[in-house]
Amino acid sequence: MTLSDFQAKYGKYAVLFGGADGLGAETAKKLAEKGLSIICVDYSQEKLDQFEAEFRKIYSVDFIPVKIDLSEENAVLDVFDVTDRLDVGFVSYIAALHKFGKIQDISWDDYMKMFNVNILNFTKAMKHYMGIFVEQGHGGIMNYSSLTALTSSPYNVEYGAGKAYIKSFTQAMAYEGEKEGVDVMVATLGATATPTELKAQPQGDLGAKIQSMALTPEDTVNEIFDNFGKVHSYYVGEHPKSQVKKWRIENDDDGLAEYMGKFYE
Ligand SMILES: NC(=O)c1ccc[n+]([C@@H]2O[C@H](COP(=O)([O-])OP(=O)(O)OC[C@H]3O[C@@H](n4cnc5c(N)ncnc54)[C@H](OP(=O)(O)O)[C@@H]3O)[C@@H](O)[C@H]2O)c1
Repeated sequence: MTLSDFQAKYGKYAVLFGGADGLGAETAKKLAEKGLSIICVDYSQEKLDQFEAEFRKIYSVDFIPVKIDLSEENAVLDVFDVTDRLDVGFVSYIAALHKFGKIQDISWDDYMKMFNVNILNFTKAMKHYMGIFVEQGHGGIMNYSSLTALTSSPYNVEYGAGKAYIKSFTQAMAYEGEKEGVDVMVATLGATATPTELKAQPQGDLGAKIQSMALTPEDTVNEIFDNFGKVHSYYVGEHPKSQVKKWRIENDDDGLAEYMGKFYE
C-alpha cells in the first residue's frame, strides 16, 4: 500500500492511547512515517514532553499531546472532546496496567484502576471510534494483546483476563468492521523489550532467557504493520507463533495456566 493509499484509508489523525513510550511511541513513529498526524494520550506530562521533543525533530506531521490517566473511570471522554474536532481515521489502544500479587492481596482500588485501563476505557474508546469509522466508511483500529490472553496469568490475574477481553473484543469487532470498510486487527505479543517489560520480567536465569527471545519494539511494530489490513488476529514474532502452535497440541487449559504461573513462583 502506498503512502497516499494509507492516508486515504486511515488519515488524517491517529489516536494512540498510551502513546508516549514503549510500543505506543514506536506505533506513533510508524504512523508518522506513513503520513498520519498523532494524538498522543498518556498520563505523564514529562514523558509526553520528552516524546514530543524527540518526535518533532524527526517528523513534520502534527503532534497533539493529551495528558489523561486512563485508570480514571471516565478518562476517555476528555480525549473524545479533543479528537471529535479532528479528522480521525486510526486508533490504537496500547496502554495496559498490571499489578503482581495474589488475588486476595491486591487492593480493590488497584483492581478498579486495572479495570478502567484494561477494560472500561478500552471499551468506551472502541464503541466511540468504531461508530465514527463506520459512519465515514473507512478507518483502522489496531489493539495490543498478549500471550497471557491464551494462558491466563496467575499472580497477575486481572492483566491476563484484560488481555483476553481485548483479544476477543477486537477479533469480533474486526469481523463486523470488515463489512463496513473498517480494518481492525489485534496483535498478540510475546516478550518485547519495552521499559515496562524490562521492569516486569522474572528475576535470574528465567528472566535472562525470556529477554534473549524478546523482540525490539521496532521489529514488533514493523511486523504488525506489514500485516495490518490483511488479517484480523496476528501473533507477532516467530517464537510466539511456534509457542501457540505447540500449546494447542500439547497443553490443555489447566496446563497453560500452570506454565504461566510457574514463571512467578
Ligand atoms: N512489552 C511486552 O513484552 C508486551 C508483551 C505482551 C503484550 N504487550 C502489550 O503491549 C502494549 C504496550 O506495552 P508496553 O510494554 O509498551 O507498555 P505499557 O506500560 O502498556 O506502555 C504504553 C504506554 O502507556 C502508558 N500508560 C500506562 N498506564 C497509563 C494510564 N493509566 N493512562 C495513560 N497512559 C498509561 C505507559 O506509561 P508508563 O510506562 O509510565 O506506565 C506507556 O507510556 C500493552 O497493551 C501490553 O499489554 C506488551
